[in-house]
Amino acid sequence: MIYTMCGQKGGSGRSTIAENLTVWLMRQGHDVLLVDADDQGTVADFTIWREATKDDIGYTMVKLDGGNVRKQVEALKPKYDHVVIDTGGRDTTSQRAALFVADVALIPIRPRSHDVWTLTKLIEMITEIQAARPLPLVVHTFLNCADITSQENREAAEALAAMPELGFLPHAIKNRKAYPVSGAKGLTVFEVEQPDLKAVAEIDTLFNAITHEQAIPAAPAQ
Ligand SMILES: Nc1ncnc2c1ncn2[C@@H]1O[C@H](COP(=O)(O)OP(=O)(O)OP(=O)(O)O)[C@@H](O)[C@H]1O
Ligand SMILES: [Mg+2]
Repeated sequence: MIYTMCGQKGGSGRSTIAENLTVWLMRQGHDVLLVDADDQGTVADFTIWREATKDDIGYTMVKLDGGNVRKQVEALKPKYDHVVIDTGGRDTTSQRAALFVADVALIPIRPRSHDVWTLTKLIEMITEIQAARPLPLVVHTFLNCADITSQENREAAEALAAMPELGFLPHAIKNRKAYPVSGAKGLTVFEVEQPDLKAVAEIDTLFNAITHEQAIPAAPAQ
């Protein structure tokens, strides 16, 4: 399965989710390729920190750019059980190439109105890509950095649930220190000493839903 991170808003949590998903799949015994398709190189930096912490990082990482994301992932995918592609927070050639080659797009959204407003453009891009693909792309949106409880979470969830093109999953990742603290060491929330069990449980729930509910986006209303 090829998963790509997607979104047109900076700092929504794409790299954090890509790193945690890569390690989550790896810990289930899968061979995983992590592709850094963001010129900021965040998951490449994460991997460098990881190499300093661990003898065996447990996955393979490559950096790819532009149209090469599609060509190289097509060429490399037979060698791996899963590919996870991280992309930057803009409509770029790399992000579009990743959306063409992927099976599943993952879109973390912070429950803030400015972030929710970017979604009209995102839906336009996804609709364009869906029309050009031989098979539909499975799309999953979910809240990241959600407040522990808030009206904003509820409003953002309602807005997302009303956008069938974005396949909203009601499994929020909350705003927890465990994510930046583990990431800064090249580790995921599963791997640190004394893991935050709430973070581990919520990310496990989200990834189980993503890997088991391969919901095809609803057809447009007639
Ligand atoms: N659930 C969370 N709780 C707390 N902090 C988080 C959470 N998710 C991500 N972060 C932190 O927010 C910051 C941005 O996250 P991240 O780099 O994953 O976002 P991004 O969408 O990849 O950003 P960019 O636009 O730079 O690519 C990082 O410092 C990360 O550790
Ligand atoms: Mg990033």
